[in-house]
Amino acid sequence: MGAKIKINKLLNLERLPNHIAIILDGNGRWATKRGLPRNAGHKAGCENLKKVVQHIYDLGIKSTTLFLFSTENWKRPQEEIDGIFKLVDKYLTDEVENLVKNGAKVTILGDYRKLPENLVKTLDEILVKTADCKTARLNLAINYGGRDEILRAVNKAIKDNKEIISEQDFEKLLYSSDLPPLDFVIRTSGELRLSNFMLWQMAYSELYFTKTLWPDFSPQELQLALINYQRRKRRFGKV
Ligand code: IPE
Ligand code: MG
Repeated sequence: MGAKIKINKLLNLERLPNHIAIILDGNGRWATKRGLPRNAGHKAGCENLKKVVQHIYDLGIKSTTLFLFSTENWKRPQEEIDGIFKLVDKYLTDEVENLVKNGAKVTILGDYRKLPENLVKTLDEILVKTADCKTARLNLAINYGGRDEILRAVNKAIKDNKEIISEQDFEKLLYSSDLPPLDFVIRTSGELRLSNFMLWQMAYSELYFTKTLWPDFSPQELQLALINYQRRKRRFGKV
């Protein structure tokens, strides 16, 4: 358990989504607003990640996917990219014991072998160390793109000489193959788009957009988002 955070009375802990995803956005603007370099925003974002992820475990949400680095983020200045990878590496290295303590098994979504050697090593270690964890899932989307994921799956199917493939079989070829359906997606910083994130998985997800910049997105605001989710009527195409 982290620092005790009060649970909003309107939040029903019995009806939490099984699988949430977060598009953590706004680190750069958070820093710029303060006259700081963008990487200071990524640092603050990583600090916030610790806090929010701990609260996610404390609430008892089973599966959480974090969009850490997209296939398109390679277009940023090299200095910023290096800074992000260093921070993610440190975050994960610091976090691994806590993951095990919370019983969170890590999954990676994305072609992570293309990342810097140190980070690949950290990710491989974290996969091994959390492999037997059974309470929760923490899914790291890193060098991840939704189209890339779908195309990889298609190409795997072609390679296996498949002619016709069912939705169920196709899902087995995605990075998310053993994750529960994605119930709820949160995007911070006021951008109203999906940015190539979990395109297949989001078909029936509930979406939540907030203007709050990621470093300012608090556990309390996470609770407000979840309360909002609980008010939705999920119909999946039915009446
Ligand atoms: C999100 O913050 C972090 C990553 C995508 C790595 P941004 O870096 O996109 O912040 P803004 O959008 O420029 O404010
Ligand atoms: Mg952004």
